[in-house]
Amino acid sequence: MYIKKLKLHNFRNYESLNVTLTKGINIIYGENAQGKTNLLESIYVLGLTKSHRSFIDNNLIKNGEDYLTIEGIINNQKLDNKLNIYIDSKSKILKYNGNAIKKISDYISIMNIIIFYPDDLEIIKSSPQVRRKYINLELSQLYSNYFILINEYNKILKLRNEYLKKISKRESKDRTYIDILTGYLIDKSIMIYKLRDKFIKKVNEYCFKIYKDIMGLDGFKVIYKPCIDMDLNSKTLKEYLKNEYNKRFEYDLKLLSTTLGPHKDDIEFYLNDKNLKYYGSQGQQRVAVLALKLSEIEIFKKYKDTTPILLLDDIFSELDEVKKNNLLKYINKDIQTIITTTDLNNLDKKLIKKSKLFNINKGNIIKVKEVKLDE
Ligand SMILES: Nc1ncnc2c1ncn2[C@@H]1O[C@H](COP(=O)(O)OP(=O)(O)OP(=O)(O)O)[C@@H](O)[C@H]1O
Ligand SMILES: [Mg+2]
Repeated sequence: MYIKKLKLHNFRNYESLNVTLTKGINIIYGENAQGKTNLLESIYVLGLTKSHRSFIDNNLIKNGEDYLTIEGIINNQKLDNKLNIYIDSKSKILKYNGNAIKKISDYISIMNIIIFYPDDLEIIKSSPQVRRKYINLELSQLYSNYFILINEYNKILKLRNEYLKKISKRESKDRTYIDILTGYLIDKSIMIYKLRDKFIKKVNEYCFKIYKDIMGLDGFKVIYKPCIDMDLNSKTLKEYLKNEYNKRFEYDLKLLSTTLGPHKDDIEFYLNDKNLKYYGSQGQQRVAVLALKLSEIEIFKKYKDTTPILLLDDIFSELDEVKKNNLLKYINKDIQTIITTTDLNNLDKKLIKKSKLFNINKGNIIKVKEVKLDE
């Protein structure tokens, strides 16, 4: 799939923007603070309803304005579809081909996006919560039901935690309600564990080769770390979890929180027996994230029969020449790619030749026919 047209109104530093993008490679260049990242962010918000770099929607509205709109024409398998987002301080309206969409789960699997940006390293460096957020987002793009599943799980988890507090306050040991909640929690947990496990297995079908192609090193793998044994079948797993929640009841009650479940999952990145979180160089970590995300392109191709839209925010400046060239093999006209850079000299000349170029200056975009590069 690809985004054909993008229209912005009051998005960050854009008062209004109307741009036609190419199906292949688009390069957005300009000096610092002109609006390159904002442009990529607007495409991300259009597809996924939230920003990758701000929790607060209001930050996306141009300073001094009351609302913003984003419109995109997305072409998927030769069909054009229109997506619209309207955000003001009180509401967010999502539309698909002119019809309002109430359920986010119905919306976020329409436009598939993979983004690389400088803070991506957090996926490796930061807390397990960041990795769970990542895996949830990717699975929600792959299966709209996953989004519903994870929301239901979180609701039950919240109720269970609240009830633990109530029991502890009343000092009563009324277990019936909590046992019912635990039963629901276990059912949803098993579905989440299975989907996450399947997803990481799929990633591992591709990431070893991609890492080797870019980094020149063997042995990269991603490991899913749930707190259960994934080899158990669903029935045994259910029994095991029932037992485990029972055993932990007093402990959960003491902590006033549920200490077992997919909300404690993690994923780890290994180069042979070395955990890249603790032993990886910055470049090794960067390429690990690239390998992870490039694997997803293959997963989208295979399981959704489409290619996602690739957003690359300033990623070439951090890689050395060799890695840059190796990465270029993965960037081709078959996948719509939108690349930002402050300096075109950071990019390969052959890549520039086959790309559509846009220059950004203070929130205005100009299509550029030809550029002069340093020799
Ligand atoms: N809500 C907003 N209203 C108006 N301007 C904003 C808003 N949010 C951010 N900006 C401004 O938009 C400008 C462009 O930001 P952006 O992150 O897109 O820059 P950039 O071109 O990616 O720069 P760099 O090369 O430094 O990454 C910045 O000056 C920023 O302060
Ligand atoms: Mg930027």
